[in-house]
Amino acid sequence: MSDREASGSGSGSGSSAVFLSKCETCGGKYPDFMESDPGRCRCRRARHKTFAKLSRFDPKGRMTLRKMSSLSERMERARKMGLEALSRSGDKGIMLFGPPGIGKTHLVVGLTRVALAASMVATFENVPDLIQRIQDTYDYERMTGEEPANTSRRKIVARLCAHDIVALDDIGRERATEDARSIMYEIVNNLYERRRTVLVTTNLTLEEYEDRYDEAIRSRLAHMTNRLKVDGDDRRRTDRYV
Ligand SMILES: Nc1ncnc2c1ncn2[C@@H]1O[C@H](COP(=O)(O)OP(=O)(O)O)[C@@H](O)[C@H]1O
Ligand SMILES: [Mg+2]
Ligand SMILES: [Zn+2]
Repeated sequence: MSDREASGSGSGSGSSAVFLSKCETCGGKYPDFMESDPGRCRCRRARHKTFAKLSRFDPKGRMTLRKMSSLSERMERARKMGLEALSRSGDKGIMLFGPPGIGKTHLVVGLTRVALAASMVATFENVPDLIQRIQDTYDYERMTGEEPANTSRRKIVARLCAHDIVALDDIGRERATEDARSIMYEIVNNLYERRRTVLVTTNLTLEEYEDRYDEAIRSRLAHMTNRLKVDGDDRRRTDRYV
């Protein structure tokens, strides 16, 4: 019994004993045979959070790779490269440039789901929302002079960058302010230093992208990802709404 032990919860009556295993990655203990309880394992906790978040974002579970049909050649290539990035850790991630409605978000959500199913610690963020969430913490700090308990800028960035796989959807749609740029730099630099696998999407053209972000951000993203121009039909024009 090397990494597993029987432990009674509560006052040791023995009747509520559960088997706990020790996570090889974080060392946290978690209950065996109980997928719904991540216990003290930080990896499982993070995965649970991402699952919950994806079910809010995509409640009908439509954004899976299996449910993607008739991919353009370039989208098919993006799908393959995305899967390769997940299967070989340390491989470059992907950065998708392309017009709206062609399935960029769907693809990275699908890849995030694949990563979770393979027990990887993955997360998905819509970048404009993420930046807004960070900026919302400033008001609290300004008014109270204190860092909010769990949601300061520093903590939000640290929590994000604790994931091995990070999908950053729709960069460039945040408002182009100096502060947003500085948040982006902080995020990208953190992910870069921790050698995370990133899956990035943007509706910006390459020219717009170069105007928007400075060399410090661009060179890091270029080192972290394979850049792909993608195209396809605008599904929002052709597909049924419900
Ligand atoms: N290949 C595909 N098969 C099925 N549905 C798709 C496909 N590509 C996109 N969609 C759907 O079309 C809509 C728009 O796709 P989305 O990923 O949001 O586009 P983008 O992020 O490129 O703007 C979404 O509802 C998505 O699920
Ligand atoms: Mg999108
Ligand atoms: Zn763990």
